[in-house]
Amino acid sequence: MNMHVAVQARAHQLDPQTQSFANDVLDGLSRSPKSLPPKYFYDDLGSELFVGITKLPEYYPTRTELGILRARAGEIAALIPPDAALVEFGAGATTKIRLLLGAHKVTAYVPVDISGDFIAAQAEELCADFPELAVYPVAADFTAPFALPDDVRELPKVGFFPGSTIGNFEPHEAADLLRTFRDILGQDSLSQGARLIVGVDLEKDEKLLVPAYDDAAGVTAQFNLNLLARINRELGGDIDLRTFEHRAIYNRDQHRIEMHLVSQRDQTVRILGERFAFTAGETIHTENSYKYSLPRFRTLAEQAGWSLQQSWMDDSGLFSVHALQAS
Ligand code: AVJ
Repeated sequence: MNMHVAVQARAHQLDPQTQSFANDVLDGLSRSPKSLPPKYFYDDLGSELFVGITKLPEYYPTRTELGILRARAGEIAALIPPDAALVEFGAGATTKIRLLLGAHKVTAYVPVDISGDFIAAQAEELCADFPELAVYPVAADFTAPFALPDDVRELPKVGFFPGSTIGNFEPHEAADLLRTFRDILGQDSLSQGARLIVGVDLEKDEKLLVPAYDDAAGVTAQFNLNLLARINRELGGDIDLRTFEHRAIYNRDQHRIEMHLVSQRDQTVRILGERFAFTAGETIHTENSYKYSLPRFRTLAEQAGWSLQQSWMDDSGLFSVHALQAS
């Protein structure tokens, strides 16, 4: 397999983001079993499709978490020290953070996201609605350590990581990530320990879990297949989308939903001059979405140097929000 020659030959034509996408695609499709990282779902179309997912009747996480945040905003705010800086990891839409900012104790908001353009636009709207709030957007990949802006150096820090994004990481990676957050938030904190508010999806009956990732309207299927469309668009792939099917399964032993794209026939696809062979029924594993029980999440947090201060759930026990304190 000589994939790196093919990529490097084109390196001068690709911007750095497309280059990373190319490397990860060629690498993922060379593996056995084939896989692609879920972070590439979110191009413009994919982000739009994800918003569609959050509104589906079967997709309970978003509306359930919003319900918890709305109902418990006062209790959550009570755990935020006065004049805190709120640091949101992977900031997108500001719907959730607005519920916490209503608490009137936050003086600075630091949205962190790889896509600098999007957060800059969101930050502007937020400033208009919360004139007292100082907003310091940071364009960074939150999975690697980064420096917080100097302006928040002296403020107590509270991290915010909603949406069960943590579920996309393997448990050992999730522990690393929580440890990284602890280091970032604790960088130059005063004596007050860092805190983290994190949203975590809970393990539940397969009958509720699977439809959330395989909805009747087929939006999740489109979201999954868009990964192949993106390969065609950005890397000049020749994949026939009609030859792949969306599949979501619950892997009970590993406590995770898995999304796959299943080749419907024997075929070879071409991407950036490389050929990739598929047998009929062979899958590309595109996403894991880990589900936690309260005890398993507590153990994960404790392994990463956090202690569980308080946990909230909805009445049906579908989703959880936790307040962690650096220990
Ligand atoms: C954004 C990772 C939380 O795992 O539920 C939704 C992504 N994938 N439907 C999730 C997703 C398919 C979502 N996260």
